[in-house]
Amino acid sequence: MKKPFVIAIDGPAASGKGSLAKKLAEYLNFDFLDTGALYRRVALYVLKQGIALDNTEKIIKAAQEFQKNLSEPYDDATLRRDNVGNAASHIAQIPEIRQILFDFQQNFAQNAKKGAVLDGRDIGTVICPDADLKLFITASTEKRAQRRHKELHSRGLDVKYEAVLAEMQERDNRDNVRLKDHMRPDIDNHLIDTSDMGPDEVFQKALDIYNSSSR
Ligand code: CDP
Repeated sequence: MKKPFVIAIDGPAASGKGSLAKKLAEYLNFDFLDTGALYRRVALYVLKQGIALDNTEKIIKAAQEFQKNLSEPYDDATLRRDNVGNAASHIAQIPEIRQILFDFQQNFAQNAKKGAVLDGRDIGTVICPDADLKLFITASTEKRAQRRHKELHSRGLDVKYEAVLAEMQERDNRDNVRLKDHMRPDIDNHLIDTSDMGPDEVFQKALDIYNSSSR
């Protein structure tokens, strides 16, 4: 049986990697996995249980309990909340949590029928190091904060741009320091800086790269 074609898309928060991954998967008729949502789901479960974010032992136990629910459908709107994203970035620093989510992600890629698109932080380095195509999507911190600010406003959340920017910088620092061996723009095959690009342009560029590299 032919192995599925795997596309790994990594990059920082609000770089546009998620919407690109979804569009590519739809267009190519590939399976799609938002791996950030897995971390967010575990984080939400932890928050709902009132577990403190520095209680590593309890967080690991909660993630072990939650593991069996990973393949069930989930409510995206709750997960997109900023406090959940922040909690996700905290729990994602715990090696045991990354290990718990590792098998699910790898199985997803390996068992796809035609192909799979996975987006996250460590897809091209840890989860699918043999991916057929690796993209690293980035943009300036200010542009990413502007996008996140617009997204939050469109969902009726009245937050100040400065607060979003500060939170973005804090999250970048945490991800960059703690995930530095996982997030490696330098080893990925294709880097796309979306600072001055619209979503359609990013999609077209990624598709061109796919077309010129597909086996
Ligand atoms: O969309 P945004 O980048 O804000 O968030 P996300 O992709 O949903 O990920 C939330 C957090 O989970 C990130 O800040 C990372 O710390 C963590 N994460 C990770 O460590 N590894 C992944 N493959 C995906 C997310």
